[in-house]
Amino acid sequence: MATVDNLTIFYFTGTGNSGKVAEWISQVADELKVPCESISIANIDRRNFSKLNLSSKPNSRFLFISPTHGFNYPPVMMHFIMRFPKGTNKIALLNTRGGLRIGKWVTPGLSGIAHPC
Ligand SMILES: Cc1cc2nc3c(=O)[nH]c(=O)nc-3n(C[C@H](O)[C@H](O)[C@H](O)COP(=O)(O)O)c2cc1C
Repeated sequence: MATVDNLTIFYFTGTGNSGKVAEWISQVADELKVPCESISIANIDRRNFSKLNLSSKPNSRFLFISPTHGFNYPPVMMHFIMRFPKGTNKIALLNTRGGLRIGKWVTPGLSGIAHPC
């Protein structure tokens, strides 16, 4: 099984849910002794990747976390991913969604993009 050299999380959050998920995953990475950096894309220059000092070892992993807006990632995250430097490292996408309570039934939210929350 490949070990993970380090994990970099890029997240966008409006009301805090995706930020909380980023925090939880960072805590798990700490427990597993995987170096992890969690970055809010709202706080960085999203057009200048050289400032980010992206260290990319063969087993570096990148994780993008964002809410679902209109069945998809919001434009800010879509544009960030589209501009992200191309490489061969594995990445993962994670989206939080809004559930809806109908009586006792809680729907899981709706996402048009093909990845689970
Ligand atoms: C403008 C807007 C559009 C949304 N569209 C969807 C959607 O299509 N499907 C869904 O399941 N949730 C939708 N939501 C709910 C958010 O995805 C959900 O509350 C998410 O957990 C918020 O994450 P955040 O706290 O990190 O911003 C929408 C929320 C907003 C504000």
